[in-house]
Amino acid sequence: MSSTTPPAPAASPDSAGLPSPGAPLLEVSGLTKHFPVMGGFPIRRRIGAVQAVDGLDFSVRAGESLGLVGESGCGKSTTGRLITRLLEPTGGRITYRGQDITRASRRQLAPVRSEIQMIFQDPYASLNPRQTVGRIVSGPMEINGIEPPGGRERRVRELLETVGLNPEHYNRFPHEFSGGQRQRIGVARALALEPKLIVADEPVSALDVSIQAQVVNLLQEVQRNLGIAFVFIAHDLAVVRHFSQRVAVMYLGRIVEVADRDQLYGNPRHPYTRALLSAVPEVAADDAAPPRERIRLAGDVPSPLNPPSGCRFRTRCWKATERCGSETPPLVRAEGSGEGHLSACHYPEDVAALTESKGSRGTKGVTGSVDLEISKEP
Ligand SMILES: Nc1ncnc2c1ncn2[C@@H]1O[C@H](COP(=O)(O)OP(=O)(O)O)[C@@H](O)[C@H]1O
Ligand code: SF4
Ligand SMILES: [Mg+2]
Repeated sequence: MSSTTPPAPAASPDSAGLPSPGAPLLEVSGLTKHFPVMGGFPIRRRIGAVQAVDGLDFSVRAGESLGLVGESGCGKSTTGRLITRLLEPTGGRITYRGQDITRASRRQLAPVRSEIQMIFQDPYASLNPRQTVGRIVSGPMEINGIEPPGGRERRVRELLETVGLNPEHYNRFPHEFSGGQRQRIGVARALALEPKLIVADEPVSALDVSIQAQVVNLLQEVQRNLGIAFVFIAHDLAVVRHFSQRVAVMYLGRIVEVADRDQLYGNPRHPYTRALLSAVPEVAADDAAPPRERIRLAGDVPSPLNPPSGCRFRTRCWKATERCGSETPPLVRAEGSGEGHLSACHYPEDVAALTESKGSRGTKGVTGSVDLEISKEP
């Protein structure tokens, strides 16, 4: 099938094929985005800042899928927009294929822009209703002045086929398609420039549950067959479990845990990850995973305008001590964690050890201070 063969790169002359699998494609360090908040009368001035993203470190290897998970408002979309350079970072560094693109100019960014594409959450809002599918999907080629062999129209038809749409629907408008089909159009557009990295921002959250799996499967095919790396953003751990080999969990602008999928789901070390996981029924039902009871977190996520000192999760954490308020826990490998499994907690969980030593007793639903029978001092 032609759609499964990676086409020759046309995006930029230096993009000589795909980077070798496993090589770092994107590296992010200390990435920060603070949105200024203006106020005051009669003279408006900066009165604060929304700390949307506050010092992220992570990398994405060629061809891999990194899941980025966290509750609404924790900074996932901002992170996606920083990586795709739709937003200017306040601080930190973004390196793409060894090139520092943090402050690259529009011209310098042009070849990189075509290699990093974004799929948006809302397939209704992200497609221009006045443009035909053909026009939408060929848009990126037009903007970048790319004339593929055989012409743009032929390429668009190929792309429509790749994403499971009828190439004959080239001249139709977005409103003639269902939500799932529209998201497929968004995928076709993202593929038009043969990207090496796609940031998919909650690509199925707006779709009917019955359609979600189909779109996830399509993205999975794209990742595998075309060797495209993904940053897959989701608000819960259920979707990324099937899609991402590695998962980073965010809370209030920071990464609190990152690990290979099996490590993260099998032995979450951060209390927040554990709470999120306890809400995923199919994971709790997994034979291999230790049994869990639902952990209900007390209270709301604090405002990113004025986040808690030290560990940002401490206002909702059942294990918080004074130390958690005064010392920010670094994102490090906790004792007993596997290679590349990092967490940011002074008193990391150890579900696996707990289950071994106490039999299959889970923990109680947590809404305040509950004795979890976990030693508070390391
Ligand atoms: N352009 C903006 N100006 C001010 N605040 C913003 C802007 N974009 C996002 N925010 C704030 O930054 C925080 C993170 O938002 P976002 O990245 O959209 O989170 P998520 O995608 O995880 O729901 C939120 O508190 C949001 O209100
Ligand atoms: S550092 Fe403290 S407050 Fe933060 S997650 Fe760990 S135990 Fe909870
Ligand atoms: Mg978002």
